[in-house]
Amino acid sequence: MCGIVGFTGSRQAAPILLQGLKRLEYRGYDSAGIAVFNETDRQTALVKSKGRLNRLMEKTDNGTSVPGCCGIGHTRWATHGEPSETNAHPHMSDDGNVVGVHNGIIENYQELRDKLTRHDYRFHSQTDTEIVIKLVDYYYKKYGLGPVDAINRTMVRVRGSYALALMFKDYPGEIWVARKDSPIILGVGNGENYVASDVPAILSYTHTVYYIENLEMARLTTDKITFYNLDGDEISKEPSEIEWDVESAEKGGFEHFMLKEIHEQPKAVRDTLMRYLVSGDEEKKQISLQEIGLTDEFLQGLDRIYIVACGSAYHVGVIGKYVLEDLTDIPVDVDLASEFRYRNPKFAKNSLVIVISQSGETADTLAALRLSKEKGIPVLGIVNVIGSSIARESDYCLYTYAGPEISVATTKAYSSQLIAIYLLAVRAAFVRGQIGESACSELIGSLCELPDKIERTLQDKERIQWFASKYASAKDVFFIGRGIDYGISLEGSLKLKEISYIHSEAYAAGELKHGTISLIEEGTLVVGLLTQPNLYEKTISNLVEVGSRGGYLMGVTPYGNYSIEDTADFTVYIPKTDPHFATSLAIVPLQLMAYYLSVARGLDVDKPRNLAKSVTVE
Ligand code: G6P
Repeated sequence: MCGIVGFTGSRQAAPILLQGLKRLEYRGYDSAGIAVFNETDRQTALVKSKGRLNRLMEKTDNGTSVPGCCGIGHTRWATHGEPSETNAHPHMSDDGNVVGVHNGIIENYQELRDKLTRHDYRFHSQTDTEIVIKLVDYYYKKYGLGPVDAINRTMVRVRGSYALALMFKDYPGEIWVARKDSPIILGVGNGENYVASDVPAILSYTHTVYYIENLEMARLTTDKITFYNLDGDEISKEPSEIEWDVESAEKGGFEHFMLKEIHEQPKAVRDTLMRYLVSGDEEKKQISLQEIGLTDEFLQGLDRIYIVACGSAYHVGVIGKYVLEDLTDIPVDVDLASEFRYRNPKFAKNSLVIVISQSGETADTLAALRLSKEKGIPVLGIVNVIGSSIARESDYCLYTYAGPEISVATTKAYSSQLIAIYLLAVRAAFVRGQIGESACSELIGSLCELPDKIERTLQDKERIQWFASKYASAKDVFFIGRGIDYGISLEGSLKLKEISYIHSEAYAAGELKHGTISLIEEGTLVVGLLTQPNLYEKTISNLVEVGSRGGYLMGVTPYGNYSIEDTADFTVYIPKTDPHFATSLAIVPLQLMAYYLSVARGLDVDKPRNLAKSVTVE
């Protein structure tokens, strides 16, 4: 939520800031702004605009009208204060002494505002950010000990989360950064350095980054980055190399990132699988999780698993529960992170908490991780962004290899998270003696076939596009299924509503008769998921029930289940696979349907209203 960029070097900063913000727009897009220090007149220019970044680009002639080689920028997802030019960042102290951008939420902003008001500070926006910037200014002037001291005092005084990038009038050409619970990375260039909320913003300039921990700060000059702890002491850090390539953060000929990312799923799934498969005897593949610390003994000793996540990652958890409980003898609980953290969970002995997160920065998921660790429960993070907070704070980290995901609606990250869960389930089932060697090999064989089968599923896209154009004016859509198919329904429904704004709900098919069926009218679209052989007949019956009340029925089922055509009005067939892994195929037509419906309705697929990809506030 909210994207921050910063640049200091000998090139013009504004175009670089704008390009970085463009790549971070998925983090928020209700207003944007930049502040650039101009070495010629020694002034800092502040330009902001309400709305999408394009407006700011127009206003600044793509940055060319804002000269200077050091600057900071921000794209906003409003928390405190409506989206407006006044509330847009950067914010500046009234005398121009400090200017800054912020991502996060300051919880004690009212108390700080009162304090500063008593010291004659005045506020022009409704943001908590303006308060933090002015608090830094206050300490800077009160103690006169420079930025490290002023920022440290501010960090001690504020409650909440923040990633801050600041510039001080007295320190031209320098950017100061501080963080607690909101992401920020520092990029290292040749005679230039960068600040960004996330890797894609700086990928075209550098692959070398520093991560900064909570309650640390950094000072960036053109040729040096210095780190400090909360006591103001200098600390040393090692840089990391990012493996992602620049192309992975480009649209590459696709009209939208979402469509590109849907098509990247075979690769994301293959790359994730390959990281954790090794060749065993007779060239048979085996799953290896030892490298990430999940030894066979550890898996054998587990008595309970808790999966905690938000959004689509939570839906992976729902599928994970079905798969893990069916393949292994381990009971599994699944929780929304925002609920888990406040429900005082009781952990069984020998438990493992699994947190799933694409960004590795989701505030509630991170809080759930910390809560579990406080209670002494080991945490496995399934994370896509290397070096993110969840990746670093987890005891074990199973990275997914989806590459950068830009579209707000997740597709390829979701698909690679599923793979992580499958790998864990199959390995745990094997080492706990729930499945034998040949069953294990068969399951691994099925996993290895998934990328090609996803590819084949994608080939049906024209039919789905046609179907979506027919239903572009739908008002309500229901997704139903049982077991794993219910889990798929949840994700299919979320995809649809988040990017097409069509109201949709997912229901466990057997629950329909307990209320929801009263919503079915003539022509209501009902999508039935039927990938589980043992539940096929039951879900067909539910489809018949809604069909006889006027519902228009779409079915998603493996090839071979042709009897569905007696019931469904429109069927999408997916390749056959082991039913435990069917989600990986069945989700693809649902993603495509959501995508094409959004396009048919003329909406901004990659940046749906009110949403942000990375939810770093509660
Ligand atoms: C947002 C995104 C979703 C994502 C969820 C959790 O709502 O739009 O696509 O599933 O956050 O994010 P995470 O980064 O933790 O997977």
